[in-house]
Amino acid sequence: MSDKRASFETPFDQVNAWLAEATESEPNDPTAMALATATPDGFPSVRMVLLKGCDADGLVFYTNLESRKGGELAQNPNAALLFHWKTLRRQIRVEGAVEPVTDAEADAYFASRPRASRIGAWASQQSREMEGRFEFEGAIAKYTAKFGAGDVPRPDYWSGFRLKPRYFEFWRDRKFRLHERITYRLDEAAQDWQLAELYP
Ligand SMILES: Cc1cc2nc3c(=O)[nH]c(=O)nc-3n(C[C@H](O)[C@H](O)[C@H](O)COP(=O)(O)O)c2cc1C
Repeated sequence: MSDKRASFETPFDQVNAWLAEATESEPNDPTAMALATATPDGFPSVRMVLLKGCDADGLVFYTNLESRKGGELAQNPNAALLFHWKTLRRQIRVEGAVEPVTDAEADAYFASRPRASRIGAWASQQSREMEGRFEFEGAIAKYTAKFGAGDVPRPDYWSGFRLKPRYFEFWRDRKFRLHERITYRLDEAAQDWQLAELYP
């Protein structure tokens, strides 16, 4: 990739550099990003998830595979991510298709989570209707007793996805709405990134 507008080796480096700045300035959840999915017939839905890794292989997040997002991604792997850091007045858009992470990756990440979060993954039937909070609390008590002081393994319906980007856009605030928009589009044949600049 060679272009005078590129101040980073790759768009993944730029995500990580902006994320490092956001980690200094944001009061909460600098890794939070909106994840947009769509049904096969094109009805979109969006929600926040946390970024758990970004490198040349893609951007990783974890979730319940039986959730609404999990169901939509199983049928249509195309998705989009959006970061917005108010303290920095910056936005990053990412588009691509997701692939499942490996079981080993999901196991390692799951094992790093607090015990109560791991039990919560067993107790929550994410995105499905529940009778009331008491039902959820009952499930938490059930799994707390079941696992006792032992290991809390990863449920097989809980794992991660890696979004493999085809497109990035880095948006930076400028005075009088004269913002800066730099895009990177993957040239699949050359396996290289094509840079462009868009009108704000
Ligand atoms: C800041 C923030 C971070 C979140 N991170 C995650 C996450 O990493 N994984 C996840 O499954 N849900 C996460 N959630 C909850 C989701 O936004 C959503 O409520 C849940 O995953 C169910 O979405 P669905 O019904 O579209 O599948 C987060 C919510 C917020 C507000």
